[in-house]
Amino acid sequence: MVLGRRYRVGRSVVYSAGVMRVGYVQMRPRFGEVGANLRRVRELIGSERADLWVLPELFNTGYVFTSHDEVRALAEVVPAGDTTHELITMAGELGAHLVAGLAEREGDQIYNAAVAVGPGGMLALYRKVHLFSEEKRWFTPGDTPFPVVPVAGARVGVMICFDHYFPESARTLALQGAEIIAHPSNLVMPGIAQRTMVVRAMENRVFTVTANRVGLEERGGRALRFTGLSQIVAPTGELLARSPEETEEVRVIELDPERSHDKHINPWNDVLADRRPAFYAR
Ligand code: ACM
Repeated sequence: MVLGRRYRVGRSVVYSAGVMRVGYVQMRPRFGEVGANLRRVRELIGSERADLWVLPELFNTGYVFTSHDEVRALAEVVPAGDTTHELITMAGELGAHLVAGLAEREGDQIYNAAVAVGPGGMLALYRKVHLFSEEKRWFTPGDTPFPVVPVAGARVGVMICFDHYFPESARTLALQGAEIIAHPSNLVMPGIAQRTMVVRAMENRVFTVTANRVGLEERGGRALRFTGLSQIVAPTGELLARSPEETEEVRVIELDPERSHDKHINPWNDVLADRRPAFYAR
């Protein structure tokens, strides 16, 4: 249910969603099986309804690449590639927006990217700024700004997985007015992002939605276990949803994006207005 509501920002009146449904898909992608992974997303969502769905990082390809040729073959041009096309089709069918991670190819460069799409097409492409571990072998560091897109009257920011380790990522989105941060992930360090994202939510007073994957991926003599525990956090740091470590699961919650507008933690302190940027630069 989306209830329209007006509110004031400074002297302007802005139209916003009152309550929206936000969900994530925690899944176990099969390496290299793009069609099967897309079908699995549809199966898991089933008849659940949400205004915004967040899918994991690289949800369509899997994560443990073994060669540049392999990454190149699985990377897609955006928005022309099959995955973005299928996500837009899904958005139309579900009447929803989706934020999802995929390997993107532009010319000779391959990026660990995320797209934000809606029934009307693509809204944003984000290329992961902070590459994790061996991702540096396969991907070019991102060169796109952290995007904020409109979804059902709310402002949704996008960052990918290891971006959580750098508080600047979420802060940059909050300073642009993000109310909800969509965080497609393939987390492998147990319990770390589950804690940092509670802090990112609190220090910026925003909602965060971390969609992680599960399962062991063993390829080319390397094995990674993905840690599940996808979660949704409120601007107070309250945990609104958390999934198990090992099983696929879809969760949807209703939230009011306006709860992110009050940046006060007490009558004296506003987490954005109290910043002292003059002291942050060397
Ligand atoms: C990560 O950035 N996939 C840990």
